[in-house]
Amino acid sequence: MAEKKITIGLLTSGGDAPGMNAAIRAIVRVGIARGAKMIGIKRGYAGLLAEEFIDMDVTTVCETIQKGGTILQTARCPEFLTEEGENHGAKICEKHGLDALIVIGGDGSFRGALSLAKRGVNVIGIPGTIDLDIPCTDYTIGFDTAINTAMSAIDKVRDTSSSHERCSIIEVMGRNAGYIALYCGIANGAEDILLPEFYDGNEQAIINNIIANRKKGKSHHIIVNAEGIGHSNALAKTIEAATGIETRATILGYLQRGGSPTCTDRVHASTMGALAVDVIMEGKKNKVIAYQNGQYVALDIEEALKMKKDISRYQFEISRLLSL
Ligand code: ADP
Ligand code: F6P
Repeated sequence: MAEKKITIGLLTSGGDAPGMNAAIRAIVRVGIARGAKMIGIKRGYAGLLAEEFIDMDVTTVCETIQKGGTILQTARCPEFLTEEGENHGAKICEKHGLDALIVIGGDGSFRGALSLAKRGVNVIGIPGTIDLDIPCTDYTIGFDTAINTAMSAIDKVRDTSSSHERCSIIEVMGRNAGYIALYCGIANGAEDILLPEFYDGNEQAIINNIIANRKKGKSHHIIVNAEGIGHSNALAKTIEAATGIETRATILGYLQRGGSPTCTDRVHASTMGALAVDVIMEGKKNKVIAYQNGQYVALDIEEALKMKKDISRYQFEISRLLSL
């Protein structure tokens, strides 16, 4: 008797991230190469609950590796935060005969996946978020593209800021984490970097730094502020009132989340997507694909969600010396 074909579902959830399509492409193509039936689920957990299932084959993912966003669309689904929603989700996976469900998303999406695992669904998580804020992994798909997009934008703001001898506060995304702000702060040579992890709310210290830099002859003052701190417009007003230096706030917003993924994101996404399928084929259950110390690994999802990681205090501290 012929062996039953394995059926693998996949969805993207939470904020989209450049490289998600490269991951979808890898999952579908490696899945088909390994003999699985591949089912795409649209709009994250919302689409799961609404049974928005589509068959996927090698041609469905043609021309996608270079595209930002996610061809499966994504959503935040409040219903999935309820027990009723989670029970319903697990029943739908069973009804459609899913042997495994691959979830590409952030920490929240993994918590949703864990709730399905507890209801008997075999789930595999792939870290996809521009924020880099998933503790179990050194890399999350989308981060490299986002920081490069933000870095280019900040370079442009700097041109005009220097020309007008202004102070510029540039707010970058990252939810409650400061990774995008730290990387851009260093890469853009910011005079101040405000991170949710370390900022003590001392506006006077920022004002003193601006005055000292002006005295040294600097024609601009770039402050990279993390979204987790926010209030960039209010801070701009406070600085202008205290220093007399024209100060402008620029909130980069969603442009950081779009665009064609960088080579780094395409390669991580392709490798993680392939590994997710191979982990299923090996009969493993309830894993998160992570990148740790230069290696791709599959971790137990429950353990992965208990992990913690710290942003580098050393990089933060030296950033002040780099902008002397
Ligand atoms: P991300 O995955 O990028 O962290 P969210 O935190 O918004 O984004 O999570 C995406 C979706 O995952 C939520 O809209 C919800 O449907 C689901 N989710 C988040 N947290 C949980 C949780 N604790 N339990 C179940 N589902 C969750
Ligand atoms: O998680 C990615 C992210 O872009 C965060 O940096 C930001 O806080 C959030 O999503 C914004 O979410 P939304 O698209 O719901 O406004």
